[in-house]
Amino acid sequence: MNSCSEFLLTRRSIRVFEEKEVPIDIVLKAIDIARYAPSAKNIQPWAFIIVKDRGILNKLAELHPGAAPLRRAPIAVVVLADSQASPVSYLVDGANAAMYLWLALHCLGLGAVWIQTLRNIDEIRKLLNIPENWVPVAIMAIGYPAERPSPKPRKDLSEIVFVDVFGNRYSGAKAS
Ligand SMILES: Cc1cc2nc3c(=O)[nH]c(=O)nc-3n(C[C@H](O)[C@H](O)[C@H](O)COP(=O)(O)O)c2cc1C
Repeated sequence: MNSCSEFLLTRRSIRVFEEKEVPIDIVLKAIDIARYAPSAKNIQPWAFIIVKDRGILNKLAELHPGAAPLRRAPIAVVVLADSQASPVSYLVDGANAAMYLWLALHCLGLGAVWIQTLRNIDEIRKLLNIPENWVPVAIMAIGYPAERPSPKPRKDLSEIVFVDVFGNRYSGAKAS
């Protein structure tokens, strides 16, 4: 396996972090890389809020049970997408930026987990003073990894790959 595939295959959701501060410069470096995510018409309808304030992190951690890793994370980044700037593609573009950010953090030795935002858009807007046209598409809880989770199971290629038309399964595909 080459190092690029290995890099992609070793990203994990990290939910437990060391009690160690993450320098904001490293997070900025990851955001700098995330800017290179693709977006429709290269509109780049995204913005990033770095959250360091413990009080705000704890409030975000209460959004839903799955947001609990934010209570243990020393820092987080909220990825926003501008529904006005790119009315058709903002969610996809925002997700691209969040995924690039996640991979960039992995590249820089940080652990992260994507925290769901889409059921709590208004609460998050209120908490972080986000204007109406901006949608929080992801919160990345970030820190130095304090766990090494095994890979989560993935669906078999034979279940998800079709050839030419939907339903025509390609059964010869081999997983990596
Ligand atoms: C859109 C999206 C929402 C997610 N929301 C949460 C969440 O709220 N809390 C959480 O702990 N993990 C969340 N995750 C992480 C997934 O559970 C995780 O990516 C999946 O189980 C696969 O594990 P892996 O990331 O280690 O490969 C989310 C991931 C995505 C892409």
